[in-house]
Amino acid sequence: MGMELLLGISTLIIALIIFLGFRSNDKLDGKSLKLPPGNLGGWPLIGDTIPFMQPHSSASLGTFMDQHIAKYGRIFRMNLLGRPTIVSADPEFNRFILQSEGRLFENSCPTSIAEIMGRWSMLALAGDIHKEMRSIAVNFMNNVKLRTYFLPDVDAQAVKILDSWKDNTTFSAMEQGKKFAFNLMVKQLMSMDPGMPETEQLRSEYVFFMKGMASIPLNLPWTAFRRALQSRSAILKIMGQKLDERVRKLQEGVQGLEEDDLLASVAKHPHLTRDQILDLILSMLFAGHETSSAAISLAIYFLQSSPKVLQQLREEHTKIANQKKERGETGLNWDDYKQMEFTHCVINETLRLGNIVKFLHRKALKDVQFKGYDIPCGWEVVPIISAAHLDSAIYDDPQIYNPWRWETIFATMTKNSNVMSFSGGPRLCPGAELAKLEMAVFLHHLVQRFEWELAEHDYPVSFPFLGFPKQLPIKIRALK
Ligand SMILES: *[C@@H]1O[C@H](CO)[C@@H](O)[C@H](O)[C@H]1NC(C)=O
Ligand SMILES: *[C@@H]1O[C@H](CO)[C@@H](O)[C@H](O)[C@H]1NC(C)=O
Repeated sequence: MGMELLLGISTLIIALIIFLGFRSNDKLDGKSLKLPPGNLGGWPLIGDTIPFMQPHSSASLGTFMDQHIAKYGRIFRMNLLGRPTIVSADPEFNRFILQSEGRLFENSCPTSIAEIMGRWSMLALAGDIHKEMRSIAVNFMNNVKLRTYFLPDVDAQAVKILDSWKDNTTFSAMEQGKKFAFNLMVKQLMSMDPGMPETEQLRSEYVFFMKGMASIPLNLPWTAFRRALQSRSAILKIMGQKLDERVRKLQEGVQGLEEDDLLASVAKHPHLTRDQILDLILSMLFAGHETSSAAISLAIYFLQSSPKVLQQLREEHTKIANQKKERGETGLNWDDYKQMEFTHCVINETLRLGNIVKFLHRKALKDVQFKGYDIPCGWEVVPIISAAHLDSAIYDDPQIYNPWRWETIFATMTKNSNVMSFSGGPRLCPGAELAKLEMAVFLHHLVQRFEWELAEHDYPVSFPFLGFPKQLPIKIRALK
């Protein structure tokens, strides 16, 4: 531990030197270029990272952003994680950044996130290798697969979770949403069944893994970051065993081996290394489960405070269920899903106001000019994608939860999409449709079977990962 401390102190001294160097650089840059306003000061190494990361209601931009926008406008510069960074809350600029991926801007993942998620994870990659990995993910979740493989499983898992809810009890809705999304993902990715010891071990390691993602990246013995790195190894070990099983089957030349999960199909992929495959699966487990569970929690949260929305939603789903009963059908199918029109408005509105992802990390590949500002090549660029969702120039009364706005919105919005919940451009989230399917199916069963209220005051917070400080405790009552 003495060694670590010494290391810490010397890091601090180096940081101070970098910090002092930084300040003089700032002045130099200002001379020739018209940089966005702001300053690159703050703490050594991390700059203004701590106030920038300060948790706040996810239906707002937070105090730091509000103050900086008031002072400097919607595009400004700051020191984030020790790097000169342009932060943008300008929807037009953000759309431009996302659309220019690979030409003017490129994904730029902070090294701490890459360390936990893996250097081959989709979050960390850019360029051709990202395209290749992304196409595997897109293929895995394409519309045909959603209809044939995912929908029946989503339906079954949703029913299973709700079957476990006991009348007149109180529990964390967020926990339940996570369980639902996690079970679904491990099944589809690696054919792991819920409740098995291996699955439970994976789930408990995953909790630490996730905590590390949202922590200050200090690799010291007692930090959440260090614990997350250990969890990463444990998770990769389990996934590695699963991969070995599939590779062995392939080598034994088992004929007609069903492509029953993603792992089996990537095991056959000729260009990918073992590390790449495991990082891919891990990042899909992460993306596929964090976002869907957050989305479901948000819907549960918003609906309990919007009785009229809940009523119309319930009517829509009761009607679909009754029609199915008349036809003697069981299990949801794609036509049922397509009929859930109001549900889709609810989903869009939930994602808009809930803002699961607040910002993205990019860097400038060239010197870029926008709205009279110079963005120097190599600088980090952070588009605050939630800004568009909360902009009163785009959405009337943006603070109001109003799913009906989506009934008319697309007539006027055309292709200048201001929906950024799933990023956009060439990096548009491959799981966007799956996430919506999960929400719709879960809501279908939930609204028909239960009523609920918050057991304690809670609200969605950007940590910046979306969470509920009290894990969204709800009290439920079974209907009928
Ligand atoms: C629900 O639970 C509360 C206390 O937990 C109890 O007082 C009440 O009688 C219960 N109601 C029903 C309908 O079971
Ligand atoms: C919801 O938003 C998506 C864009 O993310 C859009 O394509 C879709 O038409 C919207 N649905 C409704 C019902 O407004």
